[in-house]
Amino acid sequence: MQTGLVNAARALAERELSESLPRRWRHVTAVAAKAERLAPLLPAERDRHALVAAAVLHDVGYAPMVTETGFHPLDGARWLRSIKFEDRVAALVAHHTNAVVEAELRGLDADLLAEFDREDSPVTDLLWFCDLTTGPDGQDFSVQERVEEVRERYGPSSVVREFIDRSAGTFDEVAKRVEALFPPSQPM
Ligand SMILES: [Fe+2]
Repeated sequence: MQTGLVNAARALAERELSESLPRRWRHVTAVAAKAERLAPLLPAERDRHALVAAAVLHDVGYAPMVTETGFHPLDGARWLRSIKFEDRVAALVAHHTNAVVEAELRGLDADLLAEFDREDSPVTDLLWFCDLTTGPDGQDFSVQERVEEVRERYGPSSVVREFIDRSAGTFDEVAKRVEALFPPSQPM
């Protein structure tokens, strides 16, 4: 996909992540490639571009030059806003993959919700789905496998473990809504 928005997203994400966090970059490039494959499920071109740009940038908040609070969805979104990147993409990054639940556990939910609108749409579902079905090295996972992988990677008393346990039901619902978008003959 060659558009101004998507190209700008790729250039920024590559600059901030590819050298400093190569493993994270592998995950991000695989999430973005999946978003590009699934984007044709969205009828409106602006939605397809927003999906791919947000997929490319969803984890930019981990980058050393971007991180601020240590909560990567908010850090990435604030940074995108500071450089005047498209507001819708910043908001999709802010709320990606049920960030509000982790924000609540970190005492950052009021800030997140005050600063960025949460979009409930097929774009949101597809973005979360692409993230949820891509492992840390870019491998393909089912949503259940990904949830298990994250649970194992983080200890039982970690915020991330608590977040994933609270979000598992929501993630199942996202997967069902996305699978309903697929044409019957083409499961992925
Ligand atoms: Fe993320």
